[in-house]
Amino acid sequence: MTILDGKKISNDIKNEIKADVDKMKAKGEKVPHLAAIIVGKDGASLTYVNSKVKACERVGFESSLHKLPNTVSELELLAKIEELNQNDDIDGFIVQLPLPPQIDTQRVLNAVDPDKDVDGFHPTNFGKMALDMTSFIPATPFGILELLERYDIPTKGKHTVVIGRSYIVGRPMSILMGRSGFPGNSTVTLTHEFTKNITQITSQADIIIIAVGIPDFLKTEMIKDDAVIIDVGITRVPDENAEKGYVIKGDVDFDQVSKRASYITPVPGGVGPMTVSMLLKNTLLAREMHRRKANL
Ligand code: GUN
Repeated sequence: MTILDGKKISNDIKNEIKADVDKMKAKGEKVPHLAAIIVGKDGASLTYVNSKVKACERVGFESSLHKLPNTVSELELLAKIEELNQNDDIDGFIVQLPLPPQIDTQRVLNAVDPDKDVDGFHPTNFGKMALDMTSFIPATPFGILELLERYDIPTKGKHTVVIGRSYIVGRPMSILMGRSGFPGNSTVTLTHEFTKNITQITSQADIIIIAVGIPDFLKTEMIKDDAVIIDVGITRVPDENAEKGYVIKGDVDFDQVSKRASYITPVPGGVGPMTVSMLLKNTLLAREMHRRKANL
């Protein structure tokens, strides 16, 4: 069994990006600028956004964090998005999800300029992804593809079972694994909360990608020998003995499943760190696109 070391690969990618940024600086060029909008004070969201800002510093990107109160109206949020759309200094930005209930998330995501949509959540980018066109690929699925590629894990003709159909992970993942090329060319089954007899399906999977947010959902009886297991779950489970008062749990019963799998991602240290690095990669792509458009 091989552990897919997302932390190490993510570090490698950051070093590669930093080398690119150093070259830009040496030539006196503007470096990429990633901005993030965060609404409210949800602990997990703040942690994720702060790790994105820190990653920008690490590779030499500019970054800016735009904090709005939990009570912000949809109009005010849309005005902030328009401001970032119009700001030529910003190459890409994200709106950290989830958003409070008074705000229509889809309307907000539709307002982001597709050329700055480094999360790849705008319908234009999502549609392009489904049509095999060049686009921003959502960072978590992009990170999973990168892990499969860098560990040279075969995907062609394999049966990939995706568990969970969220717009951020499961749905795009199911599209990407069936696209032509590598990683891709898989036969894909997308399962969700209404799937009947899920064990019958998962036990036929060569690759399982799970993103349901239910700790220990995937048990060893549900997989076949030598399956590849990608765990996207990151649930905070209260634990009095832990320093922070909680521990992070994945969707996979790691202790048991790892004994049967050929490759497996740990939690933490698997998919999570990859997401941040791929967001940086998308920001780098956004900068290149903007420079090309401006004939620089
Ligand atoms: N919330 C959970 N995952 C993500 C993500 O990838 N991007 C944004 N913007 N919000 C998230």
